[in-house]
Amino acid sequence: MAPSSSSAKQQRLLLVAVAVVAFLLAAADGSRQPVHLRLYMHDVMRGPGTTAIHLIHGVGPPHDIERGGYFGDTAAIDDVVTEEPDVGSRAVGRAQGTYMLGSQHEEVLVVAVTVALTAGPYNGSTFSLAGRVGVYDDKAEAAVVGGTGRLRRADGYLTWRMVKLVVSEGYVMVELDVHMTVPVSAAAAAGGNWSSSVAME
Ligand SMILES: *[C@@H]1O[C@H](CO)[C@@H](O)[C@H](O)[C@H]1NC(C)=O
Ligand SMILES: *[C@@H]1O[C@H](CO)[C@@H](O)[C@H](O)[C@H]1NC(C)=O
Repeated sequence: MAPSSSSAKQQRLLLVAVAVVAFLLAAADGSRQPVHLRLYMHDVMRGPGTTAIHLIHGVGPPHDIERGGYFGDTAAIDDVVTEEPDVGSRAVGRAQGTYMLGSQHEEVLVVAVTVALTAGPYNGSTFSLAGRVGVYDDKAEAAVVGGTGRLRRADGYLTWRMVKLVVSEGYVMVELDVHMTVPVSAAAAAGGNWSSSVAME
């Protein structure tokens, strides 16, 4: 009995050691770098500089709360993205995708948006976000589900906050506070070299 129990113990120890080494290798290979971006999206729903159009409007039943809205209303956006709240400040990208009034009973948008950056250290890179955001929620959260270029395999979350609404002009500004990480190896493969946690400066 004794020898077999001792060999079983040795085997268990060996398995633990193998698991620890595998974990350490995975950790070394999978080391990630934080990236923090604060960006502003500008929706213009009317006029010559329109960046957001209704694709679907009024097909579904009238919304319980959102006046003039219908469940399922969907807009396509191609918004200017800036790093300062001022719409006239330097553009650093475009936010392209869709919003859908995705709840019948709550003022909730289901969003699928890719932000293409056109300036700064991530010029030419994109990240994609998806989720469910309360229109008037100060701390709505959505997921960063991926990225390309220097943001390849990005992973993280963002807070989505409407900071300005001018109904008469059909203008909405949304602040995105984006917290993500990217693999260091992917950064190297993409030829990236940037300090961690940089903003767009
Ligand atoms: C961004 O990259 C493009 C393509 O490489 C380049 O033409 C453009 O000048 C860059 N923009 C900025 C602001 O660096
Ligand atoms: C990356 O950038 C830092 C800071 O700008 C610089 O000190 C470093 O030499 C760069 N590394 C490479 C490999 O280019």
